[in-house]
Amino acid sequence: MWSFVFIACTFWAAAPVFAVDVSIPLTAPTNASAISPSHVSFSIEQDRWTDWAQSEFLFNVLENLAGLSGEPPRFRIGADSEDRTNFQSGLKASETVFGPPTAATPYPEASSVVVGQAFYQAAQNLPSGTHVTWGVNFKSLNLTAAVLEAGAIASAFASFPSSSGLTLDAVEIGNEADLYSGGGFRPSGFSIAQYVPQWTSFAVNVSAAVPITLNSSVKFWGGAFAGSSHTTTGFSPQGLFSNGILSSTQGKEINTISQHVYSGSGLGCGTKNQCLQDLMSKAFIRGNLSVFSPDIAATKAEGLTYILGETNSYFDHGAANVSNTAGAALWALDYSLFASELGIERLYFHEGIGYKYNFIQPVTLNISVVDATPLNPPLPPHIQPAYYAAIIAAEAIGTSGTTSVIELSINNAFVSGYAFYIGGKLAKALFINSQGFFSGTTTARPSVQLALDIAGSGVAPTTMSVKRLVIGHADDTSGVTWGGQTYETSDGKVSGAVSVQNSTVGAGVNISATQAVLVTFGS
Ligand SMILES: *[C@@H]1O[C@H](CO)[C@@H](O)[C@H](O)[C@H]1NC(C)=O
Ligand SMILES: *[C@@H]1O[C@H](CO)[C@@H](O)[C@H](O)[C@H]1NC(C)=O
Ligand SMILES: *[C@@H]1O[C@H](CO)[C@@H](O)[C@H](O)[C@H]1NC(C)=O
Ligand SMILES: *[C@@H]1O[C@H](CO)[C@@H](O)[C@H](O)[C@H]1NC(C)=O
Ligand SMILES: *[C@@H]1O[C@H](CO)[C@@H](O)[C@H](O)[C@H]1NC(C)=O
Ligand SMILES: *[C@@H]1O[C@H](CO)[C@@H](O)[C@H](O)[C@H]1NC(C)=O
Ligand SMILES: *[C@@H]1O[C@H](CO)[C@@H](O)[C@H](O)[C@H]1NC(C)=O
Ligand SMILES: *[C@@H]1O[C@H](CO)[C@@H](O)[C@H](O)[C@H]1NC(C)=O
Ligand SMILES: *[C@@H]1O[C@H](CO)[C@@H](O)[C@H](O)[C@H]1NC(C)=O
Repeated sequence: MWSFVFIACTFWAAAPVFAVDVSIPLTAPTNASAISPSHVSFSIEQDRWTDWAQSEFLFNVLENLAGLSGEPPRFRIGADSEDRTNFQSGLKASETVFGPPTAATPYPEASSVVVGQAFYQAAQNLPSGTHVTWGVNFKSLNLTAAVLEAGAIASAFASFPSSSGLTLDAVEIGNEADLYSGGGFRPSGFSIAQYVPQWTSFAVNVSAAVPITLNSSVKFWGGAFAGSSHTTTGFSPQGLFSNGILSSTQGKEINTISQHVYSGSGLGCGTKNQCLQDLMSKAFIRGNLSVFSPDIAATKAEGLTYILGETNSYFDHGAANVSNTAGAALWALDYSLFASELGIERLYFHEGIGYKYNFIQPVTLNISVVDATPLNPPLPPHIQPAYYAAIIAAEAIGTSGTTSVIELSINNAFVSGYAFYIGGKLAKALFINSQGFFSGTTTARPSVQLALDIAGSGVAPTTMSVKRLVIGHADDTSGVTWGGQTYETSDGKVSGAVSVQNSTVGAGVNISATQAVLVTFGS
């Protein structure tokens, strides 16, 4: 692959006519996937949930996305700290215990969280139309705590006026139970066969507290495991099903299987540039997600929805100077869209205050996210480059409500592409060049020339507009623009005049290393 690219570039420099031919179906192929306007959604570490909920900056950047696709991102609130949470009636402010920051983990997770009704009530600040899934504590095996939390979640949503459009989608019982025995919270060897009856006994009481019934719109998410054995005897969707989780009255209310996925450890993924280039690469993304294909098939065979309920680039809150870069925006975009090809319904990108891989930093930070050095002056709320992935996905999907997407076959190791259809008719195409162009590079920035061939019977568009995600270097942490506009503003609202180039389909499109291009077809 490397030699192919090298030869291709050399040839192109000598003969500018070199192009990679991309065939784009004029009408949606039968295997195009419907894609939700909230395809790129968020998972929130709940130890600092009220900081998120009270952030006007957060509200603005969510509204940006709602404006582009017609629906704000969905929220899953919980994660590790859902399993460290207890409930105390009447508590106005949460009581949290945090360890000290370290260079590797500037913003550690709380070791203990105690919340009251106000904690859940804070969801009222989310943009109108937000769908929420909330987790309750399972790791502590304190059923009273889980039931009190579930009841408080339900009464919060019941108190929101219907005009708020805030919807409780589901409750998740426990986070990454496949890791419980490793942490000493279950006996060594704790198996899926032991997990299923334990989950079910919690679900009996949690479902009564919400309530979650045959006729309720609130359902359960199942799974939420850190990994998958892909077998019927281990922690996996297959293991859940073969151990009978769907047979109980409560198990029948599971409508979604949630999988957690990271691409590796943020503390040991190699040199910064290698780590970033790996992450962004087409083959890496496809390999890392395709391993879940058997799980997706098993889930769909039961008539359930399959999602990545918690995901992001590298675990341990991300890799320093990798997860927080512009290259990570290209990763997140390709990763999200490729996931839809596999039948993954939605991705919840995990966010915590001060995590390296965040799309959004909703509050003022006093120490650096990469190494905990003091920030003087403090850094006000801001987006990180990955936020542009959410913007571009939302814009490409648009507000039609009937958008479908298909990956385009592109014979290039770095360039991926997707076509978007509205009502079955070709509307847009998105291309991503994941070849890393890093700071300090002294050679010319490579570029790939794409020839666009609209295939199929019917009248093909001949004009198009071209909008670019312009990135200085893959390892930049700011200065990214989308169609000439920036979201790196103090209130998170877009700034600057939009800039697109009108062109003909026949002219094709050039795409530089470390760039994304959205083409909107005209008549
Ligand atoms: C769980 O449900 C059972 C059966 O309804 C009930 O007896 C028990 O008190 C409940 N436990 C809690 C902690 O709510
Ligand atoms: C379980 O949670 C309840 C409700 O907060 C609390 O009163 C109780 O002390 C907890 N039990 C244990 C063993 O921690
Ligand atoms: C659910 O709704 C159906 C139709 O309205 C009704 O017949 C049934 O009794 C309800 N079931 C439960 C468990 O409430
Ligand atoms: C992701 O893919 C890369 C390249 O194939 C591989 O080295 C890495 O182990 C994969 N990560 C996971 C978590 O599967
Ligand atoms: C991250 O980049 C900053 C700015 O270039 C640098 O000061 C810092 O040492 C880097 N940290 C790590 C952990 O690579
Ligand atoms: C869709 O079908 C085409 C033609 O059979 C095939 O080449 C492509 O891989 C399929 N794509 C997906 C995502 O299944
Ligand atoms: C940063 O410091 C300010 C002022 O002390 C404080 O209000 C804020 O909570 C701090 N930010 C974080 C993320 O801890
Ligand atoms: C590009 O085309 C669009 C739609 O036809 C038009 O509104 C816009 O003004 C054109 N932009 C330029 C720069 O020509
Ligand atoms: C793409 O780049 C080649 C080589 O520089 C150039 O000849 C061609 O006009 C460019 N195409 C477009 C659409 O800009």
